[in-house]
Amino acid sequence: MRIGPVTLANRLFAAPMAGVTDRPFRQLCKRLGAGYAVSEMVTSRKDLWASLKTSRRADHEGEAAPISVQIAGTDAAMMAEAAAYNVARGAQIIDINMGCPAKKVCNQWAGSALMRDETLALAIVEAVVAACEPHGVPVTLKMRTGWCATEKNAVRIARAAEGAGIAMVAVHGRTREQGYQGHAEYETVAAVKRALSIPVVANGDIDSPAKAKAVFDATGADAIMIGRAAQGRPWIFGEIAHFLATGKLAPPPRVADVKQWLLEHLDDHYGLYGEYAGVRTARKHIGWTLRGLPGGEDFRAEMNIFESCEQQAREVGAWFDRLADVMPFMPAPTAPHAEARAAALH
Ligand SMILES: Cc1cc2nc3c(=O)[nH]c(=O)nc-3n(C[C@H](O)[C@H](O)[C@H](O)COP(=O)(O)O)c2cc1C
Repeated sequence: MRIGPVTLANRLFAAPMAGVTDRPFRQLCKRLGAGYAVSEMVTSRKDLWASLKTSRRADHEGEAAPISVQIAGTDAAMMAEAAAYNVARGAQIIDINMGCPAKKVCNQWAGSALMRDETLALAIVEAVVAACEPHGVPVTLKMRTGWCATEKNAVRIARAAEGAGIAMVAVHGRTREQGYQGHAEYETVAAVKRALSIPVVANGDIDSPAKAKAVFDATGADAIMIGRAAQGRPWIFGEIAHFLATGKLAPPPRVADVKQWLLEHLDDHYGLYGEYAGVRTARKHIGWTLRGLPGGEDFRAEMNIFESCEQQAREVGAWFDRLADVMPFMPAPTAPHAEARAAALH
């Protein structure tokens, strides 16, 4: 699996999720089986690049290659500048966000809203490709199936983007109008795959090894991308890899291993965010890991009073030790997607 000149470890990708897929979480996903992880989006607004939030998002210290940065905006020249800025800071791949109902950038909706304006979408693609080409950096595109049910223009935009030099397209099988409602459909993803010769990635509602295989089969996609189902379960990538290779489900991970992964993740997380923000932003990752575990809900409520990283990590470790005494292996996930979907309503 390649994106332009970049070779990837496998065909299982972690989807970009603002506020979730920061460097520590991307690294964890890569360690546990993801072949590729895209960063949270970085705004094309230059005045925000020096802000703490944006500079943390652009922090790739020690990250396993390839480093891929997603940019969002509505102005072609600003997007080109944002791409060049991130390439200068180590990005090896630039991803254009046309997949997420991104917040207002420059008083206009960016992200998937661009799918409504194909001329602007293509102008952005051309400008970003022109900015990245001299550096040998491939540009990818993340999109939805279209603006609304009657305007499913993914194939047309993807074709035009391929013509303009895009190296890979990822398609979330919902329209912009759907938000996260209903179910992802894969017919449009399959149609995009048939229409292009560059790699196409299927995304949306993949939450188990069986679903991953079904989506590969239904779309013929070159890779799949997983977002919400990896929240609190980053080992899902390894489970899918095992299933695709053997046709059998991997045994669930040991509670002791999950504790170890979570503590290492927290350590890395605190390192990036510091004490005050670190302890607070870690709560969602801990909460997702506790989902479905006996007593997890109670601990999640208790945990909010811990104010120091040291105390949070110690209490989390002790909680998992007590769990491991009575339950050595993680339970099979129960309807993880329904829960993950609720968690996505951010
Ligand atoms: C919390 C959250 C943040 C997201 N942020 C982004 C983003 O920054 N850029 C983007 O292209 N998509 C973003 N998405 C969309 C995901 O990348 C993905 O397309 C979507 O969640 C569907 O995949 P899933 O069903 O596997 O979660 C976000 C989704 C969630 C739940």
